Amino acid sequence: MLQISTMNKSFELLDKNRAKSQEGGGIKRIESQHKKGKLTARERLHLLLDEGSFEEIGAFVEHRATDFGIENEIYLGDGVVTGYGSIHGRLVYVFSQDFTVFGGSLSETHAEKICKIMDLALKNGAPLIGLNDSGGARIQEGVQSLGGYADIFYRNTIASGVIPQLSAIMGPCAGGAVYSPAITDFIMMVENTSYMFVTGPNVVKTVTHEEVTSEELGGAHTHASKSGVTQFSCSNELDCINHIKNLLKYIPQNCEENAPVYPYEMGDESRAVLDKIIPENANQPYDMREVIEGIIDEGTFMEVHKDFAENIVVGFALLGGRSIGIVANQPCVLAGVLDINSSRKAGRFVRFCDCFNVPLLTLVDVPGFLPGTDQEWHGIITNGAKLLYAFSEATVPKITVITRKAYGGAYDVMNSKHIGADMNFAWPSAEIAVMGAKGAAEIIFKKEISEAENPEAKWKEKEQEYMEKFANPYKAAARGFIDEVIKPSETRMKLIRSFKMLENKVLNLPRKKHGNIPL
Ligand code: HXC
Repeated sequence: MLQISTMNKSFELLDKNRAKSQEGGGIKRIESQHKKGKLTARERLHLLLDEGSFEEIGAFVEHRATDFGIENEIYLGDGVVTGYGSIHGRLVYVFSQDFTVFGGSLSETHAEKICKIMDLALKNGAPLIGLNDSGGARIQEGVQSLGGYADIFYRNTIASGVIPQLSAIMGPCAGGAVYSPAITDFIMMVENTSYMFVTGPNVVKTVTHEEVTSEELGGAHTHASKSGVTQFSCSNELDCINHIKNLLKYIPQNCEENAPVYPYEMGDESRAVLDKIIPENANQPYDMREVIEGIIDEGTFMEVHKDFAENIVVGFALLGGRSIGIVANQPCVLAGVLDINSSRKAGRFVRFCDCFNVPLLTLVDVPGFLPGTDQEWHGIITNGAKLLYAFSEATVPKITVITRKAYGGAYDVMNSKHIGADMNFAWPSAEIAVMGAKGAAEIIFKKEISEAENPEAKWKEKEQEYMEKFANPYKAAARGFIDEVIKPSETRMKLIRSFKMLENKVLNLPRKKHGNIPL
């Protein structure tokens, strides 16, 4: 009898502590969180994870700080909910910062909880998802908090390329705290309620005299379109969570595995719609997204970095039920030219796909690199080289389709045969040459044109001559740089078969510590 009553008491204590931990910073602060249009850390996890799959770790952790009266304020869990669960039935590790406890600020123990989860994710080879909502370093603590951040940054770095790491920004993320998400593979931000910056509007005003709001300085829209820091700008928290879930469908658990394969029945793979996309006039733009939609399994395109450097389109899709990464020049924005931002954007995406065994499809319609002082002075050389390096070093199956222009250095960079593409296709509309016919004629026939009776007519004639010689895919096909010239409507079938043929590709790079990508 005595034993049972002791047991009941100990159970009671456990239940009480559990309830306390669930409460976070208390009902008032939860209400205030809701009033701001934000969910709590636990509500977010509830929406993110498969129902009933969440297992919490560290619910009773308490901070160890003793200054400024904080020793009298103890919240079980210390401002972050950590654990594991599943999404689409697959294991994930999660941490979700609780703004209702000291503004989600990071203490030594808060960091320890996150690190424990990160270590488990790395050891067990499953994605890590961080839901960030934090006022930064716990101000009542000192260097312990800074040390805690560094412990996280270090783990982010070591886990990079081993497990996918996803960061959702669902509130403040300021100061050094931004560097953990920055090291992870993808950042999604919630519009109007989240922001990221190294120094906030007040410091900006003091130092540079600029007046700027938090939203303008580091809101979702800013980072999605101007800086490129976030890959996804989400209209609300649910949208953000759905982006995370959707993204996970295309990627494997870790670098040793492949992405899930979905049931797919081969049917009529011919896509006549593709035959009508390329305009008669080679200088007329068209939307490369229509080409993508025409090739892939219907409705499976998940565009990444949609609002940033729109002259290149990148994203995941399914092709015959298998995940692929797509990199495509976009002729309807800046004629699809390569510049600093599009090279950075595409280079980063290629690196991710290669880390995690997602085969690459490159669609090419590129007039070259963007000229100008702005580009040169900001380092188009180094930045363009990022994409070149990323494609060259990628060992996943790599297939290229040239839909129209492939001019100059951009031909080489856009996953040409020469830098390791496995299969290179071209549509009959492809133009593969050192440069556009007009410019080429001007340079190589300069003397003839200037001495002609009618220089303008001569120029036109020479332009035509150059066009006829080079504005087609057959010179490249004759050399084997293009494996096959295909009709657009045949593309889907050719790609499904080629990726299947390349399924077991093995390519080992020379032994090295690591390469030196032009950062
Ligand atoms: C301790 C914090 C805190 C922090 C907020 N709180 N930030 N407690 N450390 N860093 C507490 C508040 O005291 C308050 O407690 C509760 O969280 C909610 O904060 P509010 O200010 O009421 O909320 P709101 O108006 O929404 O403003 C949110 C905020 C603001 C913009 C984040 O709180 C703020 O500016 N906080 C300080 C940000 C900061 O300077 N952090 C340090 C950056 S340096 P109560 O008890 O009232 O609920 C840094 C270095 C990292 O992070 C370096 C890594 C290398």
